[in-house]
Order: sequence, then structure tokens, then C-alpha cells
Amino acid sequence: MSLIRVAGLADLPAGQLKLVEAGGTRVVLVRVDDAVYACDDVCAHQGGPLSKGKLSGARLACPWHGWMYDVRTGECVLPRRGHRVASYPVRIDAGEVWVEVP
Ligand code: FES
Repeated sequence: MSLIRVAGLADLPAGQLKLVEAGGTRVVLVRVDDAVYACDDVCAHQGGPLSKGKLSGARLACPWHGWMYDVRTGECVLPRRGHRVASYPVRIDAGEVWVEVP
């Protein structure tokens, strides 16, 4: 596991998505209220870019066919078939956002 600084908290307005690279992995950062979550950018369906998706609350819809993920867990909530994307632990320290990737 590596802990990698990926953004400043000020670069992440609430309700917005940001695509970053952490250790060779494309990671979507999502700020929901005061919390920041990180998940994989590649949709579990056919690889659509979740960073171009639509966020509502903590739910992120893939732009290609609308599969919806809970960004807090990476779990696909629509359709409910047990799919998921990886989610990564986030640490915020002194206004900096760090993500732990394998
Ligand atoms: S590729 Fe994401 S819903 Fe199809």
C-alpha cells in the first residue's frame, strides 16, 4: 500500500468529481459535504469513465449506461447484482488529500 498526496482540499468543491492518478491508478475523488471519497475510475460494466459521470449526493452514475455506484463503498447500487469498483481509503491532513492505493 502507498499513501499518495493527490490534491488540495480547496481544489475539491463539495458535490464535484476530480480525476487524479495515484500510483498508476486512475482514481475519482468525490467530495460529499465535508468528506472525501476515492474510487476507481473504470466502471465495472464496460469500463466507462466514472469521472465523467453524474453525482447526486453520494451516488455516482456512469455516463455510458447509467450504472450507479455508492462512492462511499464502491458498491454498485443500480443494478444490484453484486458489482463494485474499488474504493480507496482517504486521509485529509492539513488541507491535503491523500489516497491509499495498493
Ligand atoms: S460502462 Fe458504465 S454503465 Fe456501462
